[in-house]
Amino acid sequence: MITSLFTITCNVFAATPTAHGELSSDMFTDSKKCAQCHAITHDQWEGTMHYNAYEDPFYQKEVLAASNDTQGIVDEFCSRCHTPIGVVSGEIPPIDGSDLSAIAREGVQCDLCHVISGSNGTGNAPFVVSPGNIKWGPFDDSRAAYHESEYLELYTRSEYCGMCHDVTHPLNGLVVDDTYTVWKEGPYAEEGVVCQDCHMTSGITKFEANPGRAGSGAQKREHISTHAIVGGNAFITEILGEERYGEMAVERLEKTATLSIDAPQIGQRGDNVSLNISITNSGAGHKIPTGVSEIRQIWLAVSVKDGSGKQVYNTGEVYDNGTIRYTKMYNTVLGDAQGQPTLSFWLAQSILEDNRIPPRGTVSEKYTFRIPDDVTYPLAVEATLKYRSAPQDLIDHLFGEDVYEVPVISMTEISTNIYETEEAAADAATPATPGVGALGSVTILLCAAYYYMERRET
Ligand code: HEC
Ligand code: HEC
Ligand code: HEC
Ligand code: HEC
Ligand code: HEC
Repeated sequence: MITSLFTITCNVFAATPTAHGELSSDMFTDSKKCAQCHAITHDQWEGTMHYNAYEDPFYQKEVLAASNDTQGIVDEFCSRCHTPIGVVSGEIPPIDGSDLSAIAREGVQCDLCHVISGSNGTGNAPFVVSPGNIKWGPFDDSRAAYHESEYLELYTRSEYCGMCHDVTHPLNGLVVDDTYTVWKEGPYAEEGVVCQDCHMTSGITKFEANPGRAGSGAQKREHISTHAIVGGNAFITEILGEERYGEMAVERLEKTATLSIDAPQIGQRGDNVSLNISITNSGAGHKIPTGVSEIRQIWLAVSVKDGSGKQVYNTGEVYDNGTIRYTKMYNTVLGDAQGQPTLSFWLAQSILEDNRIPPRGTVSEKYTFRIPDDVTYPLAVEATLKYRSAPQDLIDHLFGEDVYEVPVISMTEISTNIYETEEAAADAATPATPGVGALGSVTILLCAAYYYMERRET
């Protein structure tokens, strides 16, 4: 009876997001307190982009620019996701953070996330926060000495993440981040695969159970979620010295997509050759890239070299100054009031292009080149899918030249050869000498043995 009354009350209030300045920051608990009993969880969260959501130097530069460009109109808007405690406690504005408490600087932290008692839908952070002794979470049978525990289904659903991972422009309603909406309309939602299944387990592209205890003295459970919530950010994580999350981001990017290539096996000098390269978003529950997808960059680098290593064709190469040799970018292009491309989403009024790859979707590109008269065979064709967190010139503009180099990550690659004759192609397909064949078999046997040993160790 008491529980059901409580639930009813909660639902009634769930419609009203907590307002600016409605609470004070001393109502929230420092994450170090939670670490006393949730040490592993704390260790996983500390250093993630949630932990750094406010201190993130890239965000810091951009939010000041946004504030400047809009005479402060967006201050509260941006801060509601990047320092939620700062907003509900009214410590922001001022946007320079001069009134901000230490706990608000913890970004998206433990207590904030676990005193969310409801939400008015998704997008633009419509959360209801009820700081205090009750911590809400995914368990309906949880007992702790320090705090009360309350089950809320929201925590197990994508709608929880969708509060902050869908962003519409506060003044003109333009959708600038559609991560949740795309997931909702895509194949994963239909199959019941939620954000937590990929981002709060070690599974990366699908759920993997992680048995353990959620706190000291707690019962053993079949699955405890991991709070090392990682996306593709190997840039800011590295700047902040959080290498382990940079490495996890690279690992995630490497499992995101697959490539296939359709090229002729034979080509003569002087021929025009067409390559068809397809990219499939095989691992992400949303488009790739997602989030600030006007800033993220995904592209194909394609190179063809002849038998002597001489370049025959090349696109998507990154020059020393960080610019990319002409190629198609898989991201979004936002347009400002004049219809010109802009990377400043607070100035955006339209979406000029959306070239991202949908979940389980495939896009294909055609590349054509002429085989020069002086090549040596075979021609080696190589395609690599690349990811960069931001254009180098944007980072140079914000932080100064030669301060940070944005890492270029190879997500996946594929290669093939083009031969001069059918015979050469056939020779390459079957090992010519018995020696090579025998060596090959030994390698396979060794690999099999190694694999077997690895399996036994885990
Ligand atoms: C971005 C919001 C967010 C942050 C930050 C966060 N959590 Fe969670 N936490 C969740 C969600 C969502 C779940 C439920 C995941 C599921 O079961 O699908 C959860 C689950 C839990 C659980 C239940 C056990 C488990 O792991 O499944 C505990 C305990 C917990 N969190 C403690 C913490 C502590 C301590 C911190 C800070 C170190 C923290 N959380 C930070 C969102 C958050
Ligand atoms: C004195 C130890 C202790 C402290 C301090 C502590 N917890 Fe817990 N907490 C526990 C235990 C034990 C559980 C039970 C875990 C279980 O049921 O598997 C728990 C459970 C939880 C749950 C799961 C609730 C549910 O119903 O799903 C959440 C969320 C949580 N704690 C968050 C926090 C946060 C946030 C803090 C810091 C503000 C915190 N805890 C501080 C011991 C503690
Ligand atoms: C209170 C708002 C909030 C909630 C709730 C929230 N996030 Fe986030 N999340 C953020 C913000 C803000 C950032 C970006 C921080 C930055 O890069 O400066 C972020 C960053 C991330 C990243 C890192 C992105 C990258 O480029 O590496 C991932 C992944 C992520 N969130 C997933 C989730 C998932 C999954 C959930 C639900 C379990 C969730 N978030 C819930 C606000 C939130
Ligand atoms: C099927 C697994 C899967 C599901 C479901 C999934 N993600 Fe992801 N997510 C990934 C992979 C893989 C990446 C890395 C590719 C990338 O960064 O674009 C990623 C990247 C991200 C990023 C960083 C994007 C970038 O490039 O900056 C964010 C933010 C994110 N996910 C949030 C979410 C949210 C929120 C949900 C639920 C609405 C969700 N994800 C559902 C697998 C998944
Ligand atoms: C509704 C929540 C929300 C609001 C409002 C919001 N952001 Fe974010 N922001 C996010 C999330 C979630 C991410 C992570 C997405 C990703 O990794 O691609 C993010 C990422 C970013 C990043 C990239 C950080 C990095 O390390 O790569 C910048 C910069 C940024 N936001 C600036 C802003 C500015 C400026 C505003 C206001 C004009 C703003 N944000 C408003 C949720 C929000």
